[in-house]
Amino acid sequence: MDIRKKVSIIGAGNVGASAAQLIAFHGIADVVLFDVVAGMPQGKALDLSEACPLWNSSSEVLGTNDYADIKDSDIVVITAGIARKPGMSRDDLLNTNASVVRDVSKEVSRYCPEAAVIVVTNPMDVMAQLAWQTTAFPAEKVLGMGAILDSARFRTFVARACGVSPASVSAMTMGGHGDQMVPLPRFSTVNGISVTDLLSEDAINAIVERTRNGGAEIVSLLKTGSAFYAPAASIFEMVRAIIFDEKKLLPATAYLDGQYGVKGTFAGVPVILGAKGIGKIVELKLNEEEKRAFLYSVDAVRNLVDRLNSPPEAADFRINP
Ligand code: APR
Repeated sequence: MDIRKKVSIIGAGNVGASAAQLIAFHGIADVVLFDVVAGMPQGKALDLSEACPLWNSSSEVLGTNDYADIKDSDIVVITAGIARKPGMSRDDLLNTNASVVRDVSKEVSRYCPEAAVIVVTNPMDVMAQLAWQTTAFPAEKVLGMGAILDSARFRTFVARACGVSPASVSAMTMGGHGDQMVPLPRFSTVNGISVTDLLSEDAINAIVERTRNGGAEIVSLLKTGSAFYAPAASIFEMVRAIIFDEKKLLPATAYLDGQYGVKGTFAGVPVILGAKGIGKIVELKLNEEEKRAFLYSVDAVRNLVDRLNSPPEAADFRINP
């Protein structure tokens, strides 16, 4: 058995390269950075390799434009595609990124049939579904990163409002990684104390709203792209949970097969993540309002999946009625 793990990252842009940096910095796996742009992944990989001695890291980092180099990866992270510009929603990326993710997924199933796949490309829930369909991998091996990022944003804003370290805050968000995501204050705590006991309803509502717009807030500040440090940290959290079989309970985007009354769609839910991928989907006892919000969010994901699967004329009709 090969003890050293191999993580391939498809798309060596902001998110992909930052995730590679975290993995190499912590030395938890060898990394392959793949991109279609000639020279760029090789340059970034060489730069990262030259940082490893200073980080006391044994990770090997390879940059490539050749899919053969991702062969037998334990984990493949898909960040390839285009990112948002100001004024664009994640959903505006649908058709362009779908064709990229389809192509990438074919190569992943060809070269890494045993890999766990972490999908990051937006609109993330739909892209996770597409990657699952295209690779035909077992559902527990294909997951999306979005919900963990949403919950990290939620944690940040709760920490600021309470004046505590973000490390003391745990938070749950569910649903699609879009404007209809569902931050869950009732399931969010500061070291065990529910945020509903610590903050006013108005303060919580403001935090929920800011979390929902967390990605757009950064896009409007950056102007030329979207967030990448927190997305990369979210990827790293998932990669580590899989590599070390941590069985960590995290919010992640997973295939629902009847859980929460939903069948056949990817959406953000609490999962237990370990070496085999998603070991279990945890079913929280949602109240009626939370349930409604979750199902509304799932519907938004389903509409996008339908749009992707519809003939172009029908899709155009639905986008611009
Ligand atoms: N195969 C491999 N790589 C590709 C392909 C492809 N078919 N098409 C594009 N890429 C690469 C680009 O060359 C670029 O280097 O994907 C990379 C994307 O990087 P950025 O433009 O820097 O975007 P980034 O901020 O990393 O976001 C990537 O993650 O958060 C999501 O919405 C975001 O969908 C976007 C993705």
